[in-house]
Amino acid sequence: MQTDALIEGMNALGYKVSNLSLRDLAHGYEAFLERQKKAHFEFVSANIVWKATGEPVAAPTTVVKTTVRDGARIKEVRIGFIGLTRHDPAFLKEVAGGRSIVTIDPLVAVEKRAPALRQKADVIVALVAMDLEQARQLPKKAREIDLVLGGDSTPGRTSTQTRTDDFPEDTQIGRARVLYAGDQGKVLGEVRLFFDDKKAIASTQRTLVGLTREWPDDPGLAKIQETVKVAINDYNKTQTESQSPFAPAGTPAPPSSPPPRTSTGKLPLAAALAQPLTYTGSDRCAPCHEQAFAVWAKSGHAHAFQTLIENKQEYNPKCLGCHTIGYGMTHGYIGPIGTPLLVNVGCESCHGPSSRHPDQVQQGFGRTEGQALGRPTRPAVSPGWTPIP
Ligand code: HEC
Ligand code: HEC
Ligand code: HEC
Repeated sequence: MQTDALIEGMNALGYKVSNLSLRDLAHGYEAFLERQKKAHFEFVSANIVWKATGEPVAAPTTVVKTTVRDGARIKEVRIGFIGLTRHDPAFLKEVAGGRSIVTIDPLVAVEKRAPALRQKADVIVALVAMDLEQARQLPKKAREIDLVLGGDSTPGRTSTQTRTDDFPEDTQIGRARVLYAGDQGKVLGEVRLFFDDKKAIASTQRTLVGLTREWPDDPGLAKIQETVKVAINDYNKTQTESQSPFAPAGTPAPPSSPPPRTSTGKLPLAAALAQPLTYTGSDRCAPCHEQAFAVWAKSGHAHAFQTLIENKQEYNPKCLGCHTIGYGMTHGYIGPIGTPLLVNVGCESCHGPSSRHPDQVQQGFGRTEGQALGRPTRPAVSPGWTPIP
């Protein structure tokens, strides 16, 4: 759903060319072909190839014609694009019919393709998905390259941004210029090219514009985003409900016999320790920790789940880990039916599961790792409290 929305958005933005990268093949080559049909732009890659023949699975290069103004005259400029991705020797994508897809060294691919592309184009742009260090080798291998537009596809290092012209070691290799604009569409990368009489680049101007709240949303794109957000939330809602281990609302609870309590109303120690260690929700802390509760209730933590509801993301597993209590942990938040009390960044998000604590306060409870340093962190792991594998 997200990929389809991305393509719809890229169509609306008027994209001409996109670099095929390994992630585009994550759901298989056939799924990629389906997506490609919906795109009004071309995919290029010179180094994602059929294993048997070494031929690229998409067009290795393409040329886009555009116009520039030269005083009163309008000139045509041909911009050549080459797609290159990081070489991953472990990557092997099986395709129906016994074929498979691999990557080859981008330096080999660029050396092979750039001269021919130069014959057809005035400017050469390399669209790259690899780390900046690797990308900086490309113009050294293929001096035809004018511009490298990159994204870092190395897992865990996706948000690479190039620094400004004050750091030429980042952004200039010979006559080539480099721009990395980070990930997730948070930053708009803009490159202006100024041409001389021979349609060669006289100068470039590169800008990174952080798309903060100062920039109003484009109404068309905002609508695409809102539609897919709601569709994904509805899908996750159905999944959550169908996978809930809890009986649907209205089913009578099975009879239970709690262990006998002592004259002080508490469970004997052995009995308390025999109870499973679970999360119980923040309301239960209020009567005994009035002051802490009052501070918490006024904080943003106390309505972190409402924030998700308002954003129609309350079923999004990517958000629940931080906006609920113990999501993904044994006895933690699962969904609104079985665990309605475990919403928000509750007391137990930091202090850990507390079911045994009110009965056995002398056992010590709620030490956070941050206590020693005076700052909040994840709670120290208590016995019986383990991440769900
Ligand atoms: C029945 C009353 C009661 C309830 C309910 C209760 N507590 Fe406590 N809590 C205590 C007592 C009593 C102590 C021990 C205070 C002491 O040792 O000075 C304590 C200690 C703590 C401590 C350690 C404080 C320190 O200085 O070391 C934390 C943290 C804590 N409780 C958090 C919670 C949280 C979170 C909840 C709700 C999930 C909760 N408590 C529910 C009575 C309660
Ligand atoms: C790694 C933890 C974490 C995850 C995961 C997370 N959030 Fe948050 N979220 C926070 C924190 C911390 C804040 C408070 C930040 C602040 O106020 O500056 C917050 C605040 C928010 C806000 C309020 C922002 C505002 O200023 O009003 C919204 C909306 C939000 N999150 C939505 C989401 C959504 C949607 C997801 C999932 C796609 C998500 N969050 C996932 C930690 C997280
Ligand atoms: C964001 C994490 C976080 C949340 C949420 C949180 N606490 Fe704490 N709490 C801490 C940390 C960290 C400390 C230790 C502070 C210190 O060392 O001064 C602490 C200290 C305490 C103490 C020790 C005595 C005190 O007042 O300093 C109590 C009791 C307590 N919390 C109860 C609660 C209760 C009850 C809630 C929910 C209403 C809650 N906490 C929510 C992180 C949290």
